[in-house]
Amino acid sequence: MSTAAPSTPPPAPQASPAGTGAFLREFLRDPLRTASALPSSRALARAATAPVPATGDPVVVELGPGTGAFTDVIAERLGGRGHHLAVELNPRLAALLRVRHPGLDVAVADAAELPALLADRGLARADVVVSGLPWAAYPRDEPWLTDVVAGCLHPDGALTQFGYSVTRALPPARRLRRRLAAAFEEVVHGRAVLANVPPAFVLTARRPRPPRG
Ligand SMILES: C[S@@+](CC[C@H](N)C(=O)[O-])C[C@H]1O[C@@H](n2cnc3c(N)ncnc32)[C@H](O)[C@@H]1O
Repeated sequence: MSTAAPSTPPPAPQASPAGTGAFLREFLRDPLRTASALPSSRALARAATAPVPATGDPVVVELGPGTGAFTDVIAERLGGRGHHLAVELNPRLAALLRVRHPGLDVAVADAAELPALLADRGLARADVVVSGLPWAAYPRDEPWLTDVVAGCLHPDGALTQFGYSVTRALPPARRLRRRLAAAFEEVVHGRAVLANVPPAFVLTARRPRPPRG
């Protein structure tokens, strides 16, 4: 665990997912990278953020925060502890996130740049990585993003990645599970979150393997 800048205080809870209009606009602009027309539900956000510790000063990295559905829950759980870094490729969504979470450390960057982003901040490792990335953000070529993230995690840390139940048997989803299993000793497939639209699940990967030589 590392001590770092305080994370953002949580915004007030909302009845509907935050930034729904902005999310839809960005989906229409770039459906492949945005990957969903709706932000995730709080039920899915709670499942995806479960490994964020309730004590200490953890470094929590969020990949693909979008309009902040997971960000809100992480910020609530941290309550100002630790360091919360959000890495978002889309500058318009990143700008929106900065307005909603003024104290949040938002990097407009590709998730693949995570090692440099942590180093720039003097952070040795992440304790938890919460990924809202779409399958399309995991390039087919090496270096695999799963290996990059595993290399940034504390040995006792965890990575969560959500997916939609309807696509779980498709080749990109199967490929991602294989790569997670290559990068981590344990990958647990969570129960379907039926309250999400569409229904989704969370993969939780722990105990990063040493880099393959
Ligand atoms: C399916 S949305 C999830 C948004 C949010 N986490 C949620 O669950 O509502 C995927 C997000 O990942 C972002 N994204 C896509 N590729 C990325 C990449 N290579 N690096 C960082 N962010 C990326 C998109 O811009 C989008 O905001």
